[in-house]
Amino acid sequence: MIKIRAVELIEEQLHFINQTKLPLQEEMLVTDDYERIAIAIERLEIRGAPAIGVAAAYALALSLKNIEKEKWTEAFENAFKRLASTRPTAVNLFFALNEMQDVYNHYQNTNDLRSRLYQKAISIHNDDINLCDRIASNGLNIFTHKVRVLTHCNAGALATGGDGTALNVIRKAFENGFVEHVYSDETRPLLQGSRLTAWELQKYGIPFSINTDSTAAFLMQQNKIDLVITGADRIAINGDAANKIGTYNLAVLCHYHKIPFYIAAPTTTIDKKCPNGDGIKIELRDKKELTHFDSKQITLDSFPAYCPAFDVTPHSLITAIITEKGIHKPPFDFLHV
Ligand code: MRU
Repeated sequence: MIKIRAVELIEEQLHFINQTKLPLQEEMLVTDDYERIAIAIERLEIRGAPAIGVAAAYALALSLKNIEKEKWTEAFENAFKRLASTRPTAVNLFFALNEMQDVYNHYQNTNDLRSRLYQKAISIHNDDINLCDRIASNGLNIFTHKVRVLTHCNAGALATGGDGTALNVIRKAFENGFVEHVYSDETRPLLQGSRLTAWELQKYGIPFSINTDSTAAFLMQQNKIDLVITGADRIAINGDAANKIGTYNLAVLCHYHKIPFYIAAPTTTIDKKCPNGDGIKIELRDKKELTHFDSKQITLDSFPAYCPAFDVTPHSLITAIITEKGIHKPPFDFLHV
């Protein structure tokens, strides 16, 4: 059984795969510096909503390493603010930071504060591993026969602390004989689909092909897609779900072609302060991600550009949302889930 871990704490150092280099290079980076982890999140060396949360939890625990006790409060607050500023959309980041802050507040005057913070970060990580397993088991119930699945971006092991969300559902379904082929959208502009999802699918031995994002409609028209499943970065109480830009396109296409559209995510991705998708902050990325292709300039810097990293799929287009608690069908109400 192939095990991929996007991030791992080993002897007070965070080890992570540099996801910007995959699949051409499998480069491991090691650091105990929270600022380096913040940069890794901004650069998408570490990415995917749950993985960002786990990495940020470890970063906060590491922020007190080699710091004198009198400076702990200042160091923790600086690290908290810096990590909270990295990426605005994935709510898992803020969930993990707040959980760490609760531990900090509770144990700040004790000598074992640092070990309490490590313990909490490790438990956030272990919980995520467990959530991924339960999402996959629940997700298996949507399959009744062998299907061809399309997915967008990467919601696999690389995107989480454990084995993934949407891609883990696909993996489990494949192991149980329910998946004939996976179509992986390339996912412009940073190619999480054609680089990362494809890399994982190949490792798992699942038959797949990559396609440009704009090929999805044609594939559906040719009757080649039986269902679509993606992850999410933030889910509102009414089920509106933010995910990688282009996900909404797929949901609209599924509606037209009468193809089920599923989201798989842990309940740590639900934002109970968000009644609907209007309140979800969408990250805007540097226009260089559009004007350049892997540092090669492809269009003019002087061209104005619009580069949202995510979009919001309205709940009315979602067939069901799979969490570790079960399969949630419309009408969605995540306030008490
Ligand atoms: O910009 P990214 O690569 O961090 O975007 C990731 C996604 O959109 C994923 O689908 C989402 O975080 C779910 S990961 C389990």
